[in-house]
Amino acid sequence: MADQDFPMGIKRVGEARAVTTRILRHEDINGSNRLFGGRLMEWIDDVAGIAARLQCGGNVTTAAIDTLEFKHPAYLNDIVVIEAWVTHVGRTSMEVRADSYVVDPATEERTMINHAYLTEVCVDDEGHPTPIPWGLVATTEEQHAECEGARKRAEIRKMRRAEGI
Ligand SMILES: CC(C)(COP(=O)(O)OP(=O)(O)OC[C@H]1O[C@@H](n2cnc3c(N)ncnc32)[C@H](O)[C@@H]1OP(=O)(O)O)[C@@H](O)C(=O)NCCC(=O)NCCS
Repeated sequence: MADQDFPMGIKRVGEARAVTTRILRHEDINGSNRLFGGRLMEWIDDVAGIAARLQCGGNVTTAAIDTLEFKHPAYLNDIVVIEAWVTHVGRTSMEVRADSYVVDPATEERTMINHAYLTEVCVDDEGHPTPIPWGLVATTEEQHAECEGARKRAEIRKMRRAEGI
């Protein structure tokens, strides 16, 4: 999209970004002594929503989570970091990528435990979709590749939605 489509201007990928850090407590653990997936999903939804709000400057609602891969388990007392940032801006919707890690406190080494893409929609005071006034630009090769993937995923979501599949 051209710059003039975004009355407030353009943000660089990474400007609209949110991070949270948690320690896994007993109430976060399931019957298999691992992190309860629903708890992580709640945290991911929160952080992704914050990243999306920082992009659009308003309120958002989660429309869809179409990728949510649990890659590794996490356990009691683990340190979990969730990072979310906007990878695509449509007319009223945004794709947010959220990566979750366990961090080894001794080495600070990160192990990815979850990878997710969420669609967040910018909404007005009545909860109706409203145009996002800020565009998004990639500034590194890695970001360009991620944003190109995000653009394709957004097209696929639209196609799926249109066809009801
Ligand atoms: C999300 C919501 C506001 C969309 O409203 P709508 O009337 O369907 O709006 P539209 O069809 O105009 O879609 C708005 C944008 O969202 C996108 N969108 C809507 N539903 C989507 C879905 N299921 N997957 C991906 N994108 C979606 C559209 O592609 C469009 O994007 P664009 O403007 O960037 O092109 C509405 O469905 C809603 O309020 N859902 C409930 C959200 C909620 O309560 N979330 C909390 C979960 S507990």
